[in-house]
Amino acid sequence: MSTPVLTAVAWPYANGPRHIGHVSGFGIPSDVFARYQRMAGNKVLMVSGTDEHGTPIQVQADKEGLTARELADKYNRQIASDLHGLGLSYDLFTRTTTGNHYRVVQELFLSLWRNGYVVAKTQLGAISPSTGRTLPDRYIEGTCPICGYDGARGDQCDNCGNQLDPADLRNPVSRINGETPEFVETEHLFLDLPAFTESLGEWLSTRTEWRPNVLKFSQNLLDDLRPRAITRDLDWGVPVPLDGWRDAPMKRFYVWFDAVIGYLSASVEWARRSGDDDAWREFWTSPDALGYYFMGKDNIVFHSLVWPSLLLGQNGAGDKGGTAGAFGTLNLPTEVVSSEFLTMSGSKFSTSRGTVIYVHEFLEEFGPDALRYFISTAGPENQDVDFTWDEFVRRTNFELANEWGNLVNRSISMAHKNVGAVPRPEAPQQADADLTALSAQAFDVVGGHLRRSRFRQAANEAMRVVTAANRYLSEQQPWQLKDDPARRDTVLHTALQVVSDANTLLTPFLPHAAQQVHEALGGTGVWAAQPELQDVEDLDAPGNSYPILTGTYSAEQARWEPVPIEVGRPLAKPKPIFGKLDPSLAETGPSWAPIKPADE
Ligand code: MF3
Ligand code: ZN
Repeated sequence: MSTPVLTAVAWPYANGPRHIGHVSGFGIPSDVFARYQRMAGNKVLMVSGTDEHGTPIQVQADKEGLTARELADKYNRQIASDLHGLGLSYDLFTRTTTGNHYRVVQELFLSLWRNGYVVAKTQLGAISPSTGRTLPDRYIEGTCPICGYDGARGDQCDNCGNQLDPADLRNPVSRINGETPEFVETEHLFLDLPAFTESLGEWLSTRTEWRPNVLKFSQNLLDDLRPRAITRDLDWGVPVPLDGWRDAPMKRFYVWFDAVIGYLSASVEWARRSGDDDAWREFWTSPDALGYYFMGKDNIVFHSLVWPSLLLGQNGAGDKGGTAGAFGTLNLPTEVVSSEFLTMSGSKFSTSRGTVIYVHEFLEEFGPDALRYFISTAGPENQDVDFTWDEFVRRTNFELANEWGNLVNRSISMAHKNVGAVPRPEAPQQADADLTALSAQAFDVVGGHLRRSRFRQAANEAMRVVTAANRYLSEQQPWQLKDDPARRDTVLHTALQVVSDANTLLTPFLPHAAQQVHEALGGTGVWAAQPELQDVEDLDAPGNSYPILTGTYSAEQARWEPVPIEVGRPLAKPKPIFGKLDPSLAETGPSWAPIKPADE
C-alpha cells in the first residue's frame, strides 16, 4: 500500500551560504527520511525553499550594501547549489519571493481573517529616524528599567532576565547605527492564538509518537498562549490583502507568517509545474496522508503551535469554528521532528567557537556522503554535538573506508579475480544462511528506526550487517579455498548478496556511494536518483527566473528489500569507493577551516 508522505523541510534564510550546522538540523535527516520512504514504496512530496523576507535578510543586505532582493537572489542561488551538492532529493526547492507564494499566503490569510482568527491592535513601535524603518525589538539596546543594567535589549534584559518592551528601556539606541529610536503608534494584525488553546491541546494529545522533549515543550506553551503579531512595519515582505493595508508601503506580513505557509505554497507550485494543478491535494487533504516536518530546535514553536494554528484557522476548526477556506481541510503535521545543534569548535582541544565550516568548501574537499554519514551517525539527533575533525576522520577512515569500503572492495575483487562474474552458490552451510538471514532481517529493523526518524540507530543497525559480513569473510577465508572452488564460490556469492543488501540499507544515508556500489556489482541504470538544479520562470511573473531543485525520483531502482543477485553477471575490477583521509587532518583541520589552538 502506498501512502502519501509530505516531507516538509525548514526553509533556510537566504542571508548567507549554509554551514554544516544548518544542514545537520533540517537537511540531511529529512533527505534520509524521504529516500527511505520512497524506497519503501510510498509517494513522497519533499518541499522547501529559501526564506527571503524580513529583518534577517534586510540586516544582512545593509551589511553587504545590497538591496534585500539582490541579497536574496545571491544567496538563494548559493543555497540551492549547496543543497544540490549534498544530494538532497527535494521534489521542489523554491523560494518565498515567487508570485505563487504571495498568492497562497494571501489566500490562507483571508480564510483566517474570515473565520475571525485575526485581530487588529495598536501598539507602540520603534522606528529608525534616519531610514524610517522599524527597529525590531532585539536591535534596540538601553538601560534596564528594572536592574539598571546598561546592555539590556528591547526584548529582554540578560542581566536580570526580565522580559522587556523596547519602549521601557532608558536611553534606548539602535544597535545598527547608534541613533535614538522614535516611538510611534502603529497598527498590527495579530493571530488570535488563545482561540486555538483547546483545538491545539486536543491535537497535541494525540501526538504520542513525537520525541518527548518536543511534545512536552509544545504542551507547556499551551498554558499561556498570547496573540502573536503577524505583521511588521517593513517594506520587504508579502503585502496584506485588506483595504487600507494592501497599498501601505510599510506594512507587510511578518517573515515567519509567510515562511511556514511556504510548505503549502511550494506544494502548490510543485503541482502546477507537474502539469496537474491539483496534485498537491493528495499530500495535504487525504486522510491517510502523513506529514513530517524537519528542523532545528529553535524552530519548534513555529511548527508545533503556530503552523498548526494557521491550518486549524484555515480549516475553520479552531475553538471559534468557521468554514474551511479555499484549500479545503488541510492535514496537521503527523510529526514535528527537531534536532539539536551542531557546534563547530573544530577540535575537542579547542575552546574557541566560530570556526565556520561551509557546506560548499566541505563538499569540494570531501564529497557529500562522508558528511551525510557523519551527521547521521554522530550528529545532534538528541543532544547538542560539537563537530570535530578527529571524529570526522575516525568515522570516515574506520567505518566508511575500512569497514564498508573494504567489504565492497574485497568481495567484488575476489569474485572478479576468481570467476569474473557473480559466482553460482553450491550447497549453502549454516554460516552462509545465518548471514543472509541477518541482512534480510535488518530491513525491518532499520526501516522501523527510519520511519521514526531515529537515524543514528538506523545507521548503526545497517552497519552491523557490514561488520557481520566482514567477520564472515575472515572466518570463511575464501582466499584459502583454491582447492575447493565450489565452497569458495558459495562464500563469495553469499558475501556479494550481503554487500548488495547492505548497500540497499545504506542507500538513504549514502546515495552517491550506493550508486557506485550498484555499478560495481554489475548493475546498470539509476539506483539512487539525485536532484537536478534547473532554472525556471516564475509561473506568475514570466521573465523572472530562479533556480529550483527537483528530480525524477520515481525512476530510481532502489527498493527497500533484498534483491537476489544475478548469477553470472560480469564483474569488473572495483575502484575504491571511499578514500582514506590523512590522519593529520584531525590535528590541523583543512586549510579553509584550520583548528585554532586552545589558547588563541
Ligand atoms: N528561516 C528559518 C530559520 O532558518 C526557518 C523557517 S522554517 C519555515 O530559522 F517554516 F518557516 F519555513
Ligand atoms: Zn535588568
